[in-house]
Amino acid sequence: MVIGLLILTSIPTTTGVAFGVSEQRKANQRKEDARRMAKFNIDVECDGDTDDDRDINGRRLVVRNDKVYLDHPNPADRSIPAFTALAFYIEYPELDESKNLDRGLGLPTYVSANPPLLNWIYADVNTHEMKYGNRTQSVAHIVGPWDWTEDERTITLEESSNFVAVEEEEGEWALYFDGDGDDCEAILEEQGKLDKAFVPVKLVRRPAEEPPPPPGPQQGSQGESSSQGQSQEPKKAE
Ligand SMILES: *[C@@H]1O[C@H](CO)[C@@H](O)[C@H](O)[C@H]1NC(C)=O
Repeated sequence: MVIGLLILTSIPTTTGVAFGVSEQRKANQRKEDARRMAKFNIDVECDGDTDDDRDINGRRLVVRNDKVYLDHPNPADRSIPAFTALAFYIEYPELDESKNLDRGLGLPTYVSANPPLLNWIYADVNTHEMKYGNRTQSVAHIVGPWDWTEDERTITLEESSNFVAVEEEEGEWALYFDGDGDDCEAILEEQGKLDKAFVPVKLVRRPAEEPPPPPGPQQGSQGESSSQGQSQEPKKAE
């Protein structure tokens, strides 16, 4: 019987195909995860031609005092010492209470090299200041979804690539999230900061030149405390 034969032979075929697809999917997922976890610095781009625009363009994200600032790519050129953000994408570990939010990818950054310590970059939900902290400090704020544009160059938060640099003190530019698409005017006005200079910016990924070296034989050595990327196993950004 033709029909019986078809049924018999089609069963193993179907199973084989299903197995192949799921293996392929897993392989693709591993590849995708590896690409997402590639470390990068974050540089600022703005295409305006005021003095402030030119000053800001090409600056790099740095972290200090719980906040994200824009400073010179070369640490030696910075007037205030700060750690250069070195970030990647990974699923944000929601708490049981926040699981329903399912915010997707978070953006952890190294905030110190020795010991290697990771924190989450997030936008303060009240002020839209960009900050960093552990999960306890970040979970109630805008922690994601972080993503990249199709060319994998421009960084987005909640599907927006709009951020604003605000000169909080003379020469000190802090980063804000422009989730409302108004160059942060409303949120800055609320905080009485509209008299500050501010510049709309994009954030672009700058793949890190050298990946952090693998754990060396001298774990716990105190000799190289300022050398960035001297990472052993990173602590989880709890
Ligand atoms: C998170 O950071 C805060 C402030 O630094 C600290 O008090 C707290 O212990 C940290 N929580 C965890 C789980 O590490």
